[in-house]
Amino acid sequence: MVQETQTARRIMSGNRPTGRLHIGHLFGVLTQWVEFCRTSEAFFEVADLHALTTSFERTESIRRNTTELVLDWLAAGVDPQKCAIYVQSHIPEISELHLLLSMIVPVAWLQRVPTYKDQIAELGPEIATYGFLGYPLMQLCDIAIVRANTVPVGKDQLSHLEIGREIVRRFNHLYGATLVEPQPTLSEFPDVPGTDGRKMSKSYDNQIEIADDEPTTTQKVRSMVTDPLKIRRHDPGRPEICPVFALHKILNESRVPWIEENCRSGALGCVDCKAELAEKLNGFMRPVRERRASLDENAVGAILDAGAEKVRVIAKETLADVKSAMKLP
Ligand code: TRP
Repeated sequence: MVQETQTARRIMSGNRPTGRLHIGHLFGVLTQWVEFCRTSEAFFEVADLHALTTSFERTESIRRNTTELVLDWLAAGVDPQKCAIYVQSHIPEISELHLLLSMIVPVAWLQRVPTYKDQIAELGPEIATYGFLGYPLMQLCDIAIVRANTVPVGKDQLSHLEIGREIVRRFNHLYGATLVEPQPTLSEFPDVPGTDGRKMSKSYDNQIEIADDEPTTTQKVRSMVTDPLKIRRHDPGRPEICPVFALHKILNESRVPWIEENCRSGALGCVDCKAELAEKLNGFMRPVRERRASLDENAVGAILDAGAEKVRVIAKETLADVKSAMKLP
């Protein structure tokens, strides 16, 4: 029934509070979130329970990281008046839905999700807890509790969306159409290169943070790898393999033809090319960083309280519908 009456786009997405965000998040994800606040109903969640799955031994940073994460969102222009910003653990209905749905999710489905094996290989067998196995189910509960139909995520999350959709189908088949099947949408700039040329990511320690100051940013740009065969200024370069050029393409579009030609010919050296990029990037980031610096950290608590209040109204309704569909007494 829900699917038939729901025509508007309802967006839900989130991040784990594991540290500050970088410019890859800003270009890729947050720019879209800002747009969604204008065009759709939007729900943005700090996934603290998801953070617990991999850092249950080090929980002391979750609170600080939650504040930093929300500050990054607000700095990017996500408007708490036009969406709901909230913390996962403040919505107990998510956890209750997780328990109910856990009854119908075959363990083999969860074991088959590629991130499960990949993360265990990367982080070690100690992370293979019961809760960690349920990570994609918990993610589905985040989405389903607010009946979101659209979920903007990176490529790495598509397998979670896929199992989430299977869980919804199974539930609706068993108990009648109650939950909404969510669709993923990919972000526009999925691959922002980091300083070492690999995808920008905190786990590679190659990131430029939203909250970095201008000298730090300039320093990081200066340290970026370039074409290894372009050693001296007049050596010809290959822009197509250079991460500095990739960032020019995102931030400095009008200059791209000139940079490409002069890099190839050898007329443009990497030092000058990086100086121009650093200036452009700092100019682009200035309003975002100024907004971040002007935000009152103490206001974050009130924003999260208001967000939780908004979400819990919907969450209670969804949970009541789920229990009634399951014929719980
Ligand atoms: N798993 C997501 C990530 O690591 C974060 C997340 C948690 C999420 N709940 C979500 C993303 C719900 C989209 C929808 O990036």
